[in-house]
Amino acid sequence: MKREVTEFPWLKSINRLSLLCLLCTLLFDLKCADPLHLGGAPVSEIMLRLGICRLDQCESGIFSWLRRNHSYQLLRVSLPPSSREVAVFETIMLNLRLSTGIFRTTLPGRLEDLDRLVNALLLEHFDPAAALRVEDWAASDCITSAEWFKSLQGSFPKVQMVASDLDLYLIEGSLREGGTYIFEGGGGVLQYIRPPFVLDLSRPESSYLIVNQALRARAVARLEQLRAQGNLDLASLNFRPGMEAIERGAITFRRIALVHPSAQALAQSDPAFRIERHSVFDVSSGQPQVIRTMNIFNTSYFDVARLTQGITAVWKSLASSGIWIVGRSIMEARPPGGKPPIHGSVMRKTGVGFEVLKQLDAKSEVEDLALSLRM
Ligand SMILES: C[S@@+](CC[C@H](N)C(=O)[O-])C[C@H]1O[C@@H](n2cnc3c(N)ncnc32)[C@H](O)[C@@H]1O
Repeated sequence: MKREVTEFPWLKSINRLSLLCLLCTLLFDLKCADPLHLGGAPVSEIMLRLGICRLDQCESGIFSWLRRNHSYQLLRVSLPPSSREVAVFETIMLNLRLSTGIFRTTLPGRLEDLDRLVNALLLEHFDPAAALRVEDWAASDCITSAEWFKSLQGSFPKVQMVASDLDLYLIEGSLREGGTYIFEGGGGVLQYIRPPFVLDLSRPESSYLIVNQALRARAVARLEQLRAQGNLDLASLNFRPGMEAIERGAITFRRIALVHPSAQALAQSDPAFRIERHSVFDVSSGQPQVIRTMNIFNTSYFDVARLTQGITAVWKSLASSGIWIVGRSIMEARPPGGKPPIHGSVMRKTGVGFEVLKQLDAKSEVEDLALSLRM
């Protein structure tokens, strides 16, 4: 037994009760050809849930039915990345929810229909031979920005694009004693990883998952201890170029890029495409002629005061007569195998506010608010 514990150090972190539950449920489910279902879920799934900590665990395997949450450490890819790493990165990005409740959700091809429509409209308003300054705000992993940039280059060879988001990195904090926390740059905590478990710390765990609950309570208590010791001041971490890790007491911090490998490669190969950190509530100094804000100015994310602040930032950032594309992909109305409709509007900056140039499948939920703006 001693040898087994050394080979599987995570066993040490589980108390006896949890270990008993684990063994019972595994034995129970493995023994039953047709596991007992309570409320639609196998018994084991009700007591515990394992995480996906390694690439090979993304494939179906003996415990795959027990595994749910991907470790955000899997967002880290090799250079050049393998197709498997990229596929896992994209899967994680689809479901990654920030501590604010805002999702990172994006995926390649998500906005390609919009790109076609918008590019045709931009040709009516701007000289294709001249430089065109475009900004894509709240771009998540920037893959849809990279795709839009490439398609725009066909019509506007001198296009320059800045893709931005508030978070371009997560921060991994690995404890010397074992276990890893995943934080947002602003300090919000998202996960605690202790293979084979990946615990979501950004929202409560189901009360049925008693093993996960017990481990989670310990992880949260340890986090509070580290905070009280002053070891979690993430704002003071200064990752200078080339610096991989920063040690603080018993914690080693490393960054995990949230930018899609293809968007990163494009930014490195073409200086006309840049990726920057920027908040949609701040005025951009780049004097863009076009700003796109997709799937961020949602009434479910922000109240009217905050949305007004964002809309004002767009108005102040845009060059004279600049164009703003704003909208939301209505995921709940997505037809099977098809793309979700987009409720969005293309608007033009006037001297005092905005005017509508075009509505997409339906108007943007913030169109009326934008039209009521008086500067
Ligand atoms: C649903 S994603 C939108 C991704 C992409 N625009 C799309 O439509 O596929 C929302 C993004 O907004 C970003 N975000 C949240 N608050 C923000 C802020 N204040 N400024 C900039 N980006 C923000 C999140 O990090 C997240 O990546």
